[in-house]
Amino acid sequence: MRIGLLGGSGQIGSEVVALAASLRCEVDAPSSRDVNLMDRQQIADWVNKGEFNAVINCAAYTAVDMAENDEEHANLINAVGAGYVAETCQLASIPTVFTSTDYVFDGTKPEPYNETDEPNPQSVYGRSKLEGEHLTQAANPQSVVVRVSWVFSTHGTNFVKTIARLAADRDNLRVVDDQIGSPCGARSIADALIRIARELLETKTGYGVYHFANSPFVSWHEFAVRIVSMLHDQALIDHEIVVQPIATEQYPTPARRPANSCLAADLIERRFSINRPEWEIELATVVHTLALSR
Ligand SMILES: NC(=O)c1ccc[n+]([C@@H]2O[C@H](COP(=O)([O-])OP(=O)(O)OC[C@H]3O[C@@H](n4cnc5c(N)ncnc54)[C@H](OP(=O)(O)O)[C@@H]3O)[C@@H](O)[C@H]2O)c1
Repeated sequence: MRIGLLGGSGQIGSEVVALAASLRCEVDAPSSRDVNLMDRQQIADWVNKGEFNAVINCAAYTAVDMAENDEEHANLINAVGAGYVAETCQLASIPTVFTSTDYVFDGTKPEPYNETDEPNPQSVYGRSKLEGEHLTQAANPQSVVVRVSWVFSTHGTNFVKTIARLAADRDNLRVVDDQIGSPCGARSIADALIRIARELLETKTGYGVYHFANSPFVSWHEFAVRIVSMLHDQALIDHEIVVQPIATEQYPTPARRPANSCLAADLIERRFSINRPEWEIELATVVHTLALSR
């Protein structure tokens, strides 16, 4: 199987590249300089030459707070650009796998969100990604949208690396305790994306929207406590740290986050036989890798 990958330098994309060979898959992942989502012609030239069986689109404007003052770029990349990718795939008769986000929901539901729940994004980023879902599906009926949340990996910027950095020279961390969700390891998301692409190629069925989440659901505070404990285990910190729970109002951000980011993910598991390990397993690997690279 030959996959075209956009966003190959990002958290999820890097893991798709790293996993591909072990899943008998060849990947072509151009940089954003060579194939920019804001350039329709670049996308078309790349797909037309690529002889891909599917395109996985992990490229996005992911600076959630910056997007509040940069709506134009967020839309051009997350919405319009996603549509260009899907329309080119449709012309080439290949599926598009598009990664999306828990931010499409307002977070007011008391239970985990299902794929059939009505989105109601509360931020520029969330609206741009929802529009990207719509444009992807409208342009290419052979599309799968995979919504994920709270992504972490050894690459890029994420909560695990932020906690590791802050914990190195602080003895007190204040972390929000009234937002819950599922931390998702980029490696297990990448595994799911490749398996989905393969299944689409083999069965030509299963198009639609799916949620992916590792288990169990936790608050950011609970997640931080577990990270700090693993940092101790790996000798990345040697002092005591108090992780203090705070409310969202005590940590204001430009973009509103959903209080409930929990994504019910049984459908993806059943439909594509996707493995959804506990996030602690991947967290241990990520923290171990951070320790080795110190
Ligand atoms: N991070 C999260 O917690 C989270 C949560 C939910 C959903 N998601 C979704 O998951 C997907 C991947 O997220 P991630 O965390 O892996 O992203 P990331 O680490 O921020 O990487 C973003 C990727 O997009 C590329 N990109 C940005 N602008 C581009 C453009 N104009 N043209 C082409 N490529 C461009 C970047 O390339 P350069 O490095 O060259 O800029 C990079 O490879 C996205 O769809 C995101 O919305 C993420």
